[in-house]
Amino acid sequence: MAPLDISLLPAEASADTDTMREVADLVNRVYATAENGQWLPGTTRTTVEEITELTRAGQIVVARLDGAVVGSIRVQHLDAETGESGMLVADPDHRGMGIGRRLRSFVIDMLRRQGIGTLQIELLVPRDWTQDSKEFMAGWNERSGYKVVRKGAFEEQYPDLAPRLATPCDFVIYHKAL
Ligand SMILES: CC(C)(COP(=O)(O)OP(=O)(O)OC[C@H]1O[C@@H](n2cnc3c(N)ncnc32)[C@H](O)[C@@H]1OP(=O)(O)O)[C@@H](O)C(=O)NCCC(=O)NCCS
Repeated sequence: MAPLDISLLPAEASADTDTMREVADLVNRVYATAENGQWLPGTTRTTVEEITELTRAGQIVVARLDGAVVGSIRVQHLDAETGESGMLVADPDHRGMGIGRRLRSFVIDMLRRQGIGTLQIELLVPRDWTQDSKEFMAGWNERSGYKVVRKGAFEEQYPDLAPRLATPCDFVIYHKAL
């Protein structure tokens, strides 16, 4: 099998509309299942425009197999000490082969080189029921050395997005020392 290629998209890739659409479609397809029941019908995780903007800002890392995008993750600096990763996805047809792990370790190596000491991730979970994908993430986060540092009500942190929720949700913030 072809090796998995992980790379930070260069800012110029934002002009490559096919790739921008490929990444946005993958994120939206994966989140439609992973956050099923958490959002009102018709709500998508991202748009081609947002992925284009994030790519231009140097924040999108992709995993490719035979040239096709099979995973992605967003990375950003929150301040001089702290980085954040999010919007992590792996193609459902290629799960369990290390795409998620490789994307995360690529981001960690990149942030370490940039002098960042703490990595933050955020998990959006339904308040009153359990979502399988979130249970999986919580277990993986714990195994990977992420510690819960804060929990809160989604509507307090993101009042603009809260009206799109289909069910009350909380966010859980994790930190990992790099
Ligand atoms: C999270 C996600 C990216 C993981 O992708 P993946 O490429 O399938 O995962 P990997 O193969 O890299 O494995 C990651 C971990 O899960 C474990 N794992 C993978 N598949 C598993 C399975 N079927 N059963 C149990 N554990 C499994 C691996 O052993 C690994 O754990 P380890 O690092 O402790 O060994 C993928 O499940 C996904 O896209 N989920 C939906 C989107 C989502 O929830 N994103 C995060 C939003 S907060």
